[in-house]
Amino acid sequence: MSVGMEKAVSLINSGELVAFPTETVYGLGADAWNPSAVKKIFELKQRPADNPLIVHIASLDMVEQFAGGMPGEAELLMQRFWPGPLTLIFKKKEEVLDLVTAGLDTVALRWPNNPISQELIFRAGPLVAPSANRSGRPSPTRAEHVKDDFGEDFPVIDGGSTQIGLESTVLDISDKPFVIRRPGAISCEEIEACIGAPVDKKTTSELNETAKSPGTKYSHYTPDAEVRWMDPDEAPDHSGTLYLLHSRNTETESENIIQFNGDYQQMARELYDRFRQADRAGYEAVAVENFTSEQLKQEKMAPALHNRISKAIG
Ligand code: TXA
Ligand code: MG
Repeated sequence: MSVGMEKAVSLINSGELVAFPTETVYGLGADAWNPSAVKKIFELKQRPADNPLIVHIASLDMVEQFAGGMPGEAELLMQRFWPGPLTLIFKKKEEVLDLVTAGLDTVALRWPNNPISQELIFRAGPLVAPSANRSGRPSPTRAEHVKDDFGEDFPVIDGGSTQIGLESTVLDISDKPFVIRRPGAISCEEIEACIGAPVDKKTTSELNETAKSPGTKYSHYTPDAEVRWMDPDEAPDHSGTLYLLHSRNTETESENIIQFNGDYQQMARELYDRFRQADRAGYEAVAVENFTSEQLKQEKMAPALHNRISKAIG
């Protein structure tokens, strides 16, 4: 059910959940200071209790409520990238709910760059907000995706399609060296240029092995169709497969061949919707053109795309 701002604020204030758009994906919001509201998130999403939540804030005062330690570089990063698709992990203040941090001594904070999320946070207070999908499903980039997962009656503020389409970059600044725990629209190079120091960038398989960002170890972003990489010389000629090509060109025009022609931003915007489309249309498989190491180095969205697709492949 689409709801307006007034209704959304009152739902949050009375300890209920509301889905809302951010610039990355739709979030499932709850009052970050209300333990029973936070609990509802884990129940509704069927999210494992050891997977911590991101607190969404919209002022520096709100940062103060949650962040314990503040390394010098934090200010540079906040100034340069907030509001925006960068989540920063700080040492946490004592009072932060254990439910939110899954018992860790750190807390993840993000200031979203979307007027609807900003107004909601401004009026209802800091919100924990995981992506508004059932655990393991592709993140929602449209209000309809939220309804697909949680039902027609679930309250969602409809803000149209999200701008970026993949979840925020998660940067752990609670310890040195800083570590990227999830790649996103803010690249490693941009972060390094901002703070003038190298940042630890792990590969997707390394990320899966570490317990430090617990969410990264779970299978994620998966449609029912089987997702796989294409061989470089494989022809996109099987009608039961949805093909996603980012740089390859094929003359064949067919509704099961999607070509992004080197527009990686567009591919990021559409990826999860294409996954969901594959299920709606009954495709058996989604085959994605693999990335070259050159593309991973040069295309800003490529590492995040590669990470999410690898995880969908499992
Ligand atoms: O773009 C986004 O970040 C979206 C929108 C709604 O803001 N949110 C999102 O939340 O993707 P979620 O819950 O789906 O993913 C949060 C990620 C998980 O991988 C989680 O493990 C990690 O952030 N995380 C949260 N708190 C952490 C902490 N204290 N230490 C390490 N990792 C943490
Ligand atoms: Mg998620």
